[in-house]
Amino acid sequence: MPIVAWREQMSLDYPPLDDEHKAFLDVINNASMDLSRHELDNMPQMFEACYDYVRNHFSAEEDVMERVNFPDIMAHIQAHQQFIKNIAEFRQAYENATTRGKKLDLAQKTIAFLSVWFIGHVISRDKMLKPYLVRLRNLPPRMDY
Ligand SMILES: [Fe+2]
Ligand SMILES: [Fe+2]
Repeated sequence: MPIVAWREQMSLDYPPLDDEHKAFLDVINNASMDLSRHELDNMPQMFEACYDYVRNHFSAEEDVMERVNFPDIMAHIQAHQQFIKNIAEFRQAYENATTRGKKLDLAQKTIAFLSVWFIGHVISRDKMLKPYLVRLRNLPPRMDY
């Protein structure tokens, strides 16, 4: 499976979110390299990394969207929730697979889905956030009570 290279086109010019996107890209690419060697041992950790990503990154991104009054927030949150469902379904199918051949096939489908989803989501949806991020500079420091 081809490696998904980071492109400048994916950048939000906002390192906290960009770094999380890059880290998730590493997860996808490492899994892709494992699969090119038909190596499945790291798949459980790969699914865990997906869950970590959705827990940490989606909540951070949604929080930023709220802070800058991003208008398309509801549709974006729905896209995140749909991805969480997709991951749960892929993991379930992978865990239910009874042979190594089926697991390999499902692992390949999962990684193909992640690559396509990641590029599409970052370029078409996350990127829409970019013009609003300048507002963060003008906001007072955040207070948590
Ligand atoms: Fe997003
Ligand atoms: Fe994102």
